[in-house]
Amino acid sequence: MFAKLNGIQIAYTDEGTGLPLLFIHGFPLNRGAWSKQVEAFKSRYRVIVPDLRGFGESGSSKGPVSMDRFAEDIWALAQHLGLGPTILAGHSMGGYVALAIARTYPAMLRGLALVGTKAGMDSAEAASARRLTAEKVQREGASVVVDAMAPKMLSASNTESRKVASVRACMAPANSEGIIGALLGMAVRPDAHDVLDKIRVPTLVIAGSDDSVIPPLESAALAKAIPDAQLRIIPGAGHLVALDQSDAFNEAMQEWLAWGCEGMQRDYLALNIPSDAPAHAAPGSSRPTS
Ligand code: MLT
Repeated sequence: MFAKLNGIQIAYTDEGTGLPLLFIHGFPLNRGAWSKQVEAFKSRYRVIVPDLRGFGESGSSKGPVSMDRFAEDIWALAQHLGLGPTILAGHSMGGYVALAIARTYPAMLRGLALVGTKAGMDSAEAASARRLTAEKVQREGASVVVDAMAPKMLSASNTESRKVASVRACMAPANSEGIIGALLGMAVRPDAHDVLDKIRVPTLVIAGSDDSVIPPLESAALAKAIPDAQLRIIPGAGHLVALDQSDAFNEAMQEWLAWGCEGMQRDYLALNIPSDAPAHAAPGSSRPTS
């Protein structure tokens, strides 16, 4: 489905019924990175997965795209879909966006899963490396980033060719403008540590044991800084843990949902769905038809 939001055509998946569960992909991916989660959770939750602007089937905009800009798009999508408080999961750059949402739109959150991500800003060196990469993409095209990032998404021990192919599919169609915008946006993102102790919803921090992009130690530090957050490290998984070890990831997520959010799911269903109502007819949870 598509919605015109903040001047951009945003593509999204919206499947299932129940408490809204919205997944935000990382860089330079598209919403396909969460396909195993859509399948696993749509029988119990309303699962929403957008392509961030500049990625997948969404439109792109010129210039740097700040994490706040991505957050505004997600907020606008939530308004468009009438979601109300939502369980948000963000992977890596998607986690930076989720923390921007926690800062600006805390009422949007009903639960938070931070996946292979961190709260710190870029060092001066990291920011300038991103700018150099953006210049290279401008000159040579998006494959510069896709070729560099694809091998880092899975654990080095996972060479299953089907999975390697699906990682590349999750980076298509590579769009130089989108990649440059996100690189420049990440380079100037603010430190989000000040947000962490203000998070008041059930939180899961989850990472792959073999993540070489954002090592699990970063996830441990993140979990420690958020009140009552749970930490799960998935053995044998790389940066794109939700695809690399999808069964173990889904199990961890399901256990956390059962622990932290299942009561909310029951209340939500009791409040929103009269027993004789057709599926998807929940008030405050409207689903556009196009
Ligand atoms: C991502 O996976 O979203 C990026 O690697 C995050 C980053 O570059 O900081």
